[in-house]
Amino acid sequence: MNSLVLMFMRSLSEVVEGRSQFKRVIIVTGTPGVGKTTVSKQLAARLNGLHIDLGELVKREKLTSGYDRKRQTLIADMDRLAHRLRQIINREKRTLIIDGHYATAVVPKNQVERVFVLRRDPRQLKQLLEKRGFTKAKLKENVAAEILDIVLYEATTSIPLEKVCEIDATGKTVRDTVKDVLSVYHGHQRCNVGVVDWIEELEEEGMLDEYLKSDSKR
Ligand SMILES: Nc1ncnc2c1ncn2[C@@H]1O[C@H](COP(=O)(O)OP(=O)(O)OP(=O)(O)O)[C@@H](O)[C@H]1O
Ligand SMILES: [Mg+2]
Repeated sequence: MNSLVLMFMRSLSEVVEGRSQFKRVIIVTGTPGVGKTTVSKQLAARLNGLHIDLGELVKREKLTSGYDRKRQTLIADMDRLAHRLRQIINREKRTLIIDGHYATAVVPKNQVERVFVLRRDPRQLKQLLEKRGFTKAKLKENVAAEILDIVLYEATTSIPLEKVCEIDATGKTVRDTVKDVLSVYHGHQRCNVGVVDWIEELEEEGMLDEYLKSDSKR
């Protein structure tokens, strides 16, 4: 009898321990410059979580496989990064907020609770990236990626659709964007995709060609 009770107690403690080790992984993704890091830092503070900026992690731990001269940026070694993230996720007890435009490709899919894809009107994004001093080519590439929903497409093809939520940050303050994300996260607002259609908006304004055509055709 005593040994049966002991066995029961053991398995119960394993369940409890397992539960306490259950951690939440939230991805914040979107085109470069859309506001991922700014929003993720505040989310981490609000959720008592740990913010991981993939770009920073790659640089800090030299998880690179080379340098992209054209884009003037380090190339992340996706396999090593995915391996490192698995380690961090397994060890960390807090909620993780993982921020990066390629996050959905490297975070273990079964661990992801929610993916927030931040969106921003390409006209605003362009201004923001200009201020950051992006080269013309890099600027065009990123603005086109936003128009063509590239990051959203990547998210919805790697993570189950019901976990992917788009948040339009256009014209909003950082505070309001964080509020929107938290509202969806806590289930007070619906998690939707398809909330923006930049192609239609730019076409209506007669600006789509200008934003998408390559410089060589000018
Ligand atoms: N509603 C908003 N949400 C988020 N950021 C905003 C918002 N409005 C303005 N910003 C500003 O936009 C900038 C976004 O920069 P941030 O570094 O967070 O972007 P990012 O997506 O992390 O870029 P990268 O991909 O290069 O790391 C910040 O200067 C931030 O203050
Ligand atoms: Mg960032």
